[in-house]
Amino acid sequence: MQDSRELTDRLIGMLVDSRKRTLELVSDLSDEQMIGPQLRIVNPPLWEIGHLAWFQERWNLRRVTDEEFAPSTILGRGDEFYDSMQVAHDTRWELPLLSREETLSYMRRVLDETLHSLRTEGPSPEADYFARLAAFHEDMHGEAFTYTRQTHGLPAPPISEHDPAILEAQPRGPLEGDAEVPGGEFMLGATEGTGFVFDNEKWAHPVRVSPFRISRAPVTNEQFGSFVDDGAYRRRELWGEEGRRWLDESGAERPVYWSRVGDGWHHRHFDSEGPLNPHAPVIHVGWYEAEAYCRWAERRLPTEAEWEMAASAEPDAAGTTGRKRLYPWGDGPPGPRHANLDGRLLGPVDVAAFPEGDSAFGCRQMVGNVWEWCADDFGPYPGFVRDPYKDYSEPWFGDHKVQRGGSWATRSRMLRNTWRNFALPDRRDVFAGFRTCALD
Ligand code: AVJ
Ligand code: FE
Repeated sequence: MQDSRELTDRLIGMLVDSRKRTLELVSDLSDEQMIGPQLRIVNPPLWEIGHLAWFQERWNLRRVTDEEFAPSTILGRGDEFYDSMQVAHDTRWELPLLSREETLSYMRRVLDETLHSLRTEGPSPEADYFARLAAFHEDMHGEAFTYTRQTHGLPAPPISEHDPAILEAQPRGPLEGDAEVPGGEFMLGATEGTGFVFDNEKWAHPVRVSPFRISRAPVTNEQFGSFVDDGAYRRRELWGEEGRRWLDESGAERPVYWSRVGDGWHHRHFDSEGPLNPHAPVIHVGWYEAEAYCRWAERRLPTEAEWEMAASAEPDAAGTTGRKRLYPWGDGPPGPRHANLDGRLLGPVDVAAFPEGDSAFGCRQMVGNVWEWCADDFGPYPGFVRDPYKDYSEPWFGDHKVQRGGSWATRSRMLRNTWRNFALPDRRDVFAGFRTCALD
């Protein structure tokens, strides 16, 4: 009884905290900014906050098992607005959306009813699963609100957990060198009993991994700057076939927010222009840019199996122990000493920071700071079965690339070493960089 009370409180705490962050991320936006310019890579924030409530209502308050779930009793006709699989992207700017006040009150009402049903019905396994699903979905859109603000050049978000003092205790500078990982048979994916996991992480299955060397830190701005300064965006031989097509279509000559000042580089961080931090990881580069950098540096992107092995395996005399860590540093949950997460630092920090978060092989910042592009296409693991939210993973298999680890803006509560993010290879608006492996 006591346990179920505690669990209820924990779930409520997550939902309430996730909502608090959402409201912070849009609280200072004008009505015009709540619609914003129409781009393929963003949503109108006014639509997006309504979508959060719709999603929560759909999975927490309406019957979740039926293909045809009951109509919204709260929204009436507006029910059709917010289903991201039904409402085409461009349409989201044309809908007669609810006003901001109406949307906020719909959000409040759905959250109140969700909390009420958790309190009265208790956390059944289903209620637990769908409460987490709604909180993590809201967390993911929270990261999207954050990069949308970067895309539009709005001010950095007023995040109440912002705490720059964390950095005072952290080492600064670059972090050179490779970690050596012995390879062998590795169980890729999540193991039953881990708790909430997404369908794309299921289940752990054996893969053969050859011994490899992977950089201890992500590629820095300084390193990426050498590549740009070497004329890389004009040297077609450094780009793959699709990468060349992307170069032609985009006309890219440098990372998206970089500008030349004297013989150095500045970049735009939200609404402020300033010198690049040489020792922070490069961020806002697409997969094609990561691939070209690797060709230039005579390196390669890690596969996701290599990435996950470097993050979670433990070495012993025979190779690895077979034990897997939930996080690079062990099984304890992420805290402010381990990683740059949860928006606490409002941007990426030096790659030497957070040594307490190192993996057993000495890889730093595998979790937090920047998402890391992997070589692989995003695909199903053997025996894949989609979960009730069937459009979470399956529609995106094939043409998306995998990102691992989480960024400075990612909520720590939803992450673990097996977490797989995915994005189209031309996306440069998301908080992604990469680390590299030796060619051998
Ligand atoms: C898993 C972050 C790629 O943003 O498209 C939100 C998350 N899915 N609503 C995305 C998601 C549906 C998804 N990512
Ligand atoms: Fe969504």
